Amino acid sequence: MPPSHHFGRSGPEPRTPREPEGWLHLKGISRHNLQDLDADFPLGVLTAVTGVSGSGKSTLVNEVLADGEETDAEGLGTFDRVVRVDQKPIGRTPRSNLATYFGMFDAVRRVFADTEEARRRGYSPGRFSFNVAGGRCETCDGEGFVAVELLFLPGTYGPCPTCHGARYNPETLEVRHRDRSIADVLAMTVAQASEFLADVRDATRSLETLLDVGLGYLRFGQPATELSGGEAQRIKLATELQRGRRGDALYILDEPTTGLHPADIELLVIQLQRLVDAGNTVVVVEHDIVAAGTPAEVAAGHASRTAPYLSAHLARARRLDEPCDDEISAARPSGARLRPDAVPLLQRVARTRRGQQASVEDGRGGFRTCDLSRVKRALSH
Ligand SMILES: Nc1ncnc2c1ncn2[C@@H]1O[C@H](COP(=O)(O)OP(=O)(O)O)[C@@H](O)[C@H]1O
Ligand SMILES: [Mg+2]
Ligand SMILES: [Zn+2]
Repeated sequence: MPPSHHFGRSGPEPRTPREPEGWLHLKGISRHNLQDLDADFPLGVLTAVTGVSGSGKSTLVNEVLADGEETDAEGLGTFDRVVRVDQKPIGRTPRSNLATYFGMFDAVRRVFADTEEARRRGYSPGRFSFNVAGGRCETCDGEGFVAVELLFLPGTYGPCPTCHGARYNPETLEVRHRDRSIADVLAMTVAQASEFLADVRDATRSLETLLDVGLGYLRFGQPATELSGGEAQRIKLATELQRGRRGDALYILDEPTTGLHPADIELLVIQLQRLVDAGNTVVVVEHDIVAAGTPAEVAAGHASRTAPYLSAHLARARRLDEPCDDEISAARPSGARLRPDAVPLLQRVARTRRGQQASVEDGRGGFRTCDLSRVKRALSH
């Protein structure tokens, strides 16, 4: 785990808060412990609903807002869809997998049916399905594993003795595209598949989206039942991002960071920001802080326990905008030194294309973050 997560050195770039495009007013909400509550949600921005457990966050957001059935809901008509994104599996059987979920597998089956060998044998795309008889292994019905009955013990699963997990019969596996069988493709990672299928238009977009959200390590044919909750959530968001048209959707996430590593949360937040950038409204339920307002307003609140932490964070973020020629020139006589972890940081910045900041020693034992091009200029003198 990168240590930066503990010291707040990395994290998302500071951003200018967005202006709401309008407001959604819910009035007189009474449900569970909520009594005659009014709540206003800004549109076209990312909103967090916070509070202690049991305070009614899920009731407000997941039930009242999502259902839109409150009598007095002004502004709900501005959404063409309300999408709840949760950590539930994307499918319940091993017959649905990453490739089928995105519809990419159809394209791959067409590629195999289009090979010279398949055409010579008269194999259609259906031949390359593990869900219908024809090309699949009939010992395991294309599942790749079989139930093992034990006399006095509960049953268990084992690899199929005929296909050894390949899911297809030998004749199907004899058809190869660029020296790979369809089972080989299912076993590839998303990253490998995106190279192998670079010329398959109906697959590239989904594969790139998955790579983009840090899921390149998943297998192309990874069964829906073998994905973690956090992965399922990011896959759902990836399909939403992939829609690629200006959205007027309302996305609702109830405590989406549950069980996630800080690095996963960072990726999740990037996805959410992109959805907002595409014109959507995102409402997230989180615990941890109790406040109302923009980050700057909350930071200014005197009675709030969150305020001191938030204002320290915002102050740190503001410093990124200031020039830091002084620090660079002060450091120059001894050679402007980048802090020890700046090089991996720079590579990371370059890789994620999220910004152009670098860290330099400030000569007082601390570090300052400033514009990468400035540092490069100072170092090249
Ligand atoms: N289906 C329900 N029926 C009755 N009471 C409920 C139901 N769901 C939640 N509650 C109660 O409503 C209150 C708010 O719950 P909830 O909205 O889930 O809070 P939060 O999401 O903030 O933890 C709690 O006291 C909870 O026990
Ligand atoms: Mg809740
Ligand atoms: Zn089999």
